[in-house]
Amino acid sequence: MARSYILGIESSCDESAAAIVGFDGEVKSSVIYSQLAEHAPFGGVVPEIAARAHLDKLPHVIRQSLGESHINRQELAAIAVTQGPGLGGALLCGLHMAQALAFAWDLPVIGIDHLHAHLLSPWLKTATHRPHRLAYPYLALLVSGGHSAFYQVTNQAEARLLGQTRDDAVGEAFDKAAKTLGLPYPGGPAIASFAQQDPGCSFRFSPVRLKSGGFDLSFSGLKTALIQALPTAGHDEQGRRHLAWAFQEAIVRTLRDKLSDIVNSLEPAFRPQHVALVGGVAANTRLREVLGACCSDFGIALTIPPVDLCTDNAAMIAYAGTGIYRSAAANRGLTPQRPTTATMLDAYTRDKERSRGPTGPLSAQTGANTEPRVR
Ligand code: KG4
Ligand code: ZN
Repeated sequence: MARSYILGIESSCDESAAAIVGFDGEVKSSVIYSQLAEHAPFGGVVPEIAARAHLDKLPHVIRQSLGESHINRQELAAIAVTQGPGLGGALLCGLHMAQALAFAWDLPVIGIDHLHAHLLSPWLKTATHRPHRLAYPYLALLVSGGHSAFYQVTNQAEARLLGQTRDDAVGEAFDKAAKTLGLPYPGGPAIASFAQQDPGCSFRFSPVRLKSGGFDLSFSGLKTALIQALPTAGHDEQGRRHLAWAFQEAIVRTLRDKLSDIVNSLEPAFRPQHVALVGGVAANTRLREVLGACCSDFGIALTIPPVDLCTDNAAMIAYAGTGIYRSAAANRGLTPQRPTTATMLDAYTRDKERSRGPTGPLSAQTGANTEPRVR
């Protein structure tokens, strides 16, 4: 029986997920258990609760994913699992689950960089999403609760970091702003539905432009601007709605301006033909609208995977695994190496200090950003 599929396992933050994906990117199944309800009372992700929930849910999620895929276990070529960055305890749950299954089923384990998997997510094929016109190289904007960065994705194995946030991630900025405005966690969707445009509103936050730093981003100043505007504008619901719109608008325009800067910095002949928007914040309608208009002004195609493939999922992990499996098999004639627990402990130590804790008040920095790896 041909071994044509990879089982992906994702447990880096607060989604317990498993998926079966073919080497051509076809998603046979993708099951995601969101731990939102467990974390919401604390206003953010609590690492200990996340790890316990992964232990509890991952076996069910994996079983369900295999069942829904209608493939035979003998058709699996490997197990791909998120190796980092992420919450240490949460990552270890997924890795050990993968190692146990690999031992039982005699399969190789492939450790996957979570950020790299996000960058490849536009290639996944589902009933509603086919990457018809996508081609390497493309420009990717990764915006999530933990990361905000621009990359040039050169091929399935390589991506070059162009610029990243120096403080808060975009999703994190939304989450903190929502807290200030008295909205629930997660803040991004809460702000998006609460925000109301008012052309007459005098509150505007300027898009952030760093004096130096190339294509880097920064969002912590916007939080301060929001706090300062709150006493004047936020005393009634209408005022808070307008503030939410102004905040969202400033974030969206900051990302649009940076994208324009990047494209303009390139000679027309070297401009990318495609931009991909990935990560949980890609669900934001206003961001899609504004980036869509910006890309069409440049004559560039914008690809946005469906929301359940933008947020954390295991299909992107499995797809990233297909590339590594193929090149390991082709280059060395060997099965890919199993990541050891030692590798994982490295990831744990590296990420522990940077891991995302509950969202505090706007004035508090959580140090949420785990640095993307430059490949
Ligand atoms: O990628 P993701 O599901 O998880 C990780 O952070 O890894 O992203 C979650 C983030 C949260 O901060 C959430 O507030 C934000 O994405 N988000 C949004 C929207 N939906 C989710 N931000 C703005 N607008 C939205 N519609
Ligand atoms: Zn993610």
